[in-house]
Amino acid sequence: MNYQDDIPLAKRVKSIKTITIKSFLRIGLLSIALGISLTYLATKSVLRQTKFLNNENNLIEETKDLSLLGHLPYPEASIDELILYSPGIYVHKDIYENLKEMQFRAAQKGISLQLLSGYRSINLQKDIFYENKSIRNQTAVERSMVSAPPGYSEHSTGYAIDVGDGDFPNTHFEVEFEQTPAFKWMKKFATKYHFVLSFPPNNKQGVTYEPWHWRFEGTVNALRKFEAANKITKFK
Ligand code: DAL
Ligand code: ZN
Repeated sequence: MNYQDDIPLAKRVKSIKTITIKSFLRIGLLSIALGISLTYLATKSVLRQTKFLNNENNLIEETKDLSLLGHLPYPEASIDELILYSPGIYVHKDIYENLKEMQFRAAQKGISLQLLSGYRSINLQKDIFYENKSIRNQTAVERSMVSAPPGYSEHSTGYAIDVGDGDFPNTHFEVEFEQTPAFKWMKKFATKYHFVLSFPPNNKQGVTYEPWHWRFEGTVNALRKFEAANKITKFK
């Protein structure tokens, strides 16, 4: 005889139901906890590179944090990847058509979308980072809020651009740019041309809000470059 036969049917059913609901709740909570942990680990590993070295059958693990003052490392575009866009400004070939089209469409609405900067060599970034730092008497940490250290700027890839409103030059590289027709237009239509704002307000990298700085994500090559940055944005 089964021990449950001693329990009235109604009670048996109720207890089985309760157990089932409890189990589902437990499984649900466990799944949520597991999901949160995996997401956390994925975020943490974005800035890290792990090496496994086999040294006389010993497995050695070395973990490196790849970020520097909140910025991620970026390779320098090669000469053959670049194209002259406007006097003195080179960009990655991949962005040329989209940038031209974007400027053209904005112009049709009476907006002067001006390209202020594009590709920057690591050497130029070195000058910007160290020269400006000494002019402004800032520490490297303070400077990193507005400028990436050499080797860590999206501009080195040729995929990042700084834009301004040609009708409001006094807002160039200023947060006031966000009040111009050019920024408002970009906010609405830039994604159509695969440009995204790299450093929105309160961004997870801790870089000061830069309404003028946009990066191109319209090719697999470009997306690969910004994979780590996108993971931080998504998860934090
Ligand atoms: N202003 C951005 C962070 C750069 O220097 O790349
Ligand atoms: Zn920029």
